[in-house]
Amino acid sequence: MRILFYDAANYDKESFQGVAGEYQDIEITYEEVDVNTKTAFLAEGYDAICAFVNSDLSAPVLEKLTKYGIKLILLRCAGFNNVDLNKSNELGMTVLRVPGYSPEAVAEHAMTLAMAVNRHIHKSYIRVRENNFSLTGLTGINFFGKTAGIVGTGKIGAAMCRICHGFGMKVIAYDMYPNKNLDFVEYKTLDEVLKESDLISLHCPLTDDNRHMINKETIAMMKDDVVLVNTSRGGLVKTEDLIQGIRSKKFFGVGLDVYEEEGRNVFENREDELLESSITARLLSFPNVIVTSHQGFLTREALEAISHTTLQNALDFEKGTINEMNLVK
Ligand code: NAI
Repeated sequence: MRILFYDAANYDKESFQGVAGEYQDIEITYEEVDVNTKTAFLAEGYDAICAFVNSDLSAPVLEKLTKYGIKLILLRCAGFNNVDLNKSNELGMTVLRVPGYSPEAVAEHAMTLAMAVNRHIHKSYIRVRENNFSLTGLTGINFFGKTAGIVGTGKIGAAMCRICHGFGMKVIAYDMYPNKNLDFVEYKTLDEVLKESDLISLHCPLTDDNRHMINKETIAMMKDDVVLVNTSRGGLVKTEDLIQGIRSKKFFGVGLDVYEEEGRNVFENREDELLESSITARLLSFPNVIVTSHQGFLTREALEAISHTTLQNALDFEKGTINEMNLVK
């Protein structure tokens, strides 16, 4: 099977080449360009394409890919909101994804963000590099003995619960479907979790019902000096209201791996450009906010798991033994 990888970054090549020896029947070609109506022609002669989280898999692109003989789309990610599923179904294309790869990778990044803003690591790193050894303004808070509130206790949220438990925190959580394996977690209503937590970490998917769940009203419920972390989806937080909350000194720190306007920025080097949005620029301007660019998943273990599942998906398709859990319909 010949697969064309679109939007292939160096870390993709390294991780896929690392496991490729175990999938002898698969031949991979890496392209730096992403898939769109202008680059779809590159897929001619291949059996499948592999695409990522922001790849354009809209109806016109799918139509072109079909024209060039592509019947299989391998998503090397969990999300599939970038695929026009009506069109892929209509065209008889199969779309396979990697639903879960390493929940710990994302949860560990969430705690990294929480600890970094808490202990001002972003400031002290720069200071010491400049021979400034002053401690002024670097006082943090102990997480030990404090309350962690986890919103969404699926795979990643559960891993975050375990990490917080390990820190000696009281762990409370909100999820419509409590996770029975987390016997140390006390489930509460969302309002209670928001009101009682010193650290709030969001781990639920973005749906039509919970868009902007963190807004002016819910921020007002939170304790003063709360640490808020979002590694889930930017749309869960109403950025304007978050900025207002930061300005009114509600938050001890805010750590964001995702934010509402990340679309144009994610995985791009835009260092020579002026940011078009003043909202994002304002967010970046606060000393107690750390923003990373959707890198929660980026560990060797997660990339290796993504590589294995993606290539196994390809083989399963060829053998007619698709893993239904990975099928996007
Ligand atoms: P999962 O499907 O295992 O768990 C999601 C949990 O959220 C479920 O228990 C569900 O009942 C709960 N939930 C759904 N709606 C909710 C609501 N309104 N309030 C509270 N709980 C709710 O998903 P998983 O694997 O834990 O991923 C969680 C999210 O993490 C994903 O949806 C994605 O947005 C994000 N993610 C971020 C990554 C990153 O690199 N930053 C990488 C992978 C996922």
